[in-house]
Amino acid sequence: MYLQRRNRILRQSPAIRAMVRETILSPNDFIVPLFIVEGENVISEISSMPGYYRRSIDQTVKEVKELWAMGLKSVLLFIKCDDKLKDNKGTEALNPNGLMQRSIRAIKNAVPEMLIMTDVALDPFSSYGHDGIVENNEILNDATVEVLAAMSVSHASAGADFVAPSDMMDGRIGAIRQALEENNYSKTGIMSYSAKYASCFYGPFRDALDSAPGFGDKKTYQMDPANRIEAIRETIMDIEEGADIVMIKPALSYLDIIREIKNAVDVPVSAYNISGEYAMIKAAAKMGWIEEDKAILETLVSIKRAGADLIATYFAKDAVRLIG
Ligand code: PBG
Repeated sequence: MYLQRRNRILRQSPAIRAMVRETILSPNDFIVPLFIVEGENVISEISSMPGYYRRSIDQTVKEVKELWAMGLKSVLLFIKCDDKLKDNKGTEALNPNGLMQRSIRAIKNAVPEMLIMTDVALDPFSSYGHDGIVENNEILNDATVEVLAAMSVSHASAGADFVAPSDMMDGRIGAIRQALEENNYSKTGIMSYSAKYASCFYGPFRDALDSAPGFGDKKTYQMDPANRIEAIRETIMDIEEGADIVMIKPALSYLDIIREIKNAVDVPVSAYNISGEYAMIKAAAKMGWIEEDKAILETLVSIKRAGADLIATYFAKDAVRLIG
């Protein structure tokens, strides 16, 4: 048989495969989510996220030093708020000495070069477990946006490099940008969760922060998984309002959306390889049904190949270890 083109020529050895590889993972790609709790010397495993932990501030600082030494460059902070501090207004979210604000200061102080991104949303602080202020079983948009803007300023003043609004209220990026400008935080960036879907795969995260909605679901603010065009509209609006980085979340069921958005915008695109995606790999690996290390790398490379410039992932340390 004579063939004009033989595609296997470029696959026949590790050397040629390495040379023609289109997508290469690097420690610069990853954003490391961290869960922070009150206390001292606390490291507690999240049961639905085996191998992932909630840490007190002192242990978080230790972890951040290790992450920086491994070449990782950004962390995304989430805090677990005490039940007694939760209300329907996000009061604790604005506390200058709240757990988030203290965490930001401690990390900045210990590892000043590490980029600190902070979650901006009310759910960890909400007595209803919703991302906004609740009235008559409705999530109020504009009243919530005011708190999110104040929360962003509070994080910026504690030293956050980027605020990351994950709430999906309308108009919040513009309001946050304006509030940052008015308060002289013009260097603080915004990484917007622009296309965040109402996904069942957030379950383990909600266990981690004890932030599951107390009534109903998040479908009046997070997007319908069936929609594609809407994701582009949401993302373009966020960029017009001042988002520096946009995010698609979750990642794996939405690889097509990542690619569409990558093709449509001219700012860095990130994707969140979320808790349920982590848990599925961990569970299947534990059962001996898949090889964990290979599954991690294949997952992350697929998200990058789809178009993500940055990936928030609980596998960041594993990935750095695996790519050597
Ligand atoms: C809430 C928030 C969620 C995640 C990040 N921020 C959950 C939700 O919207 O209910 C999920 C992250 C993950 O599942 O890994 N503002």
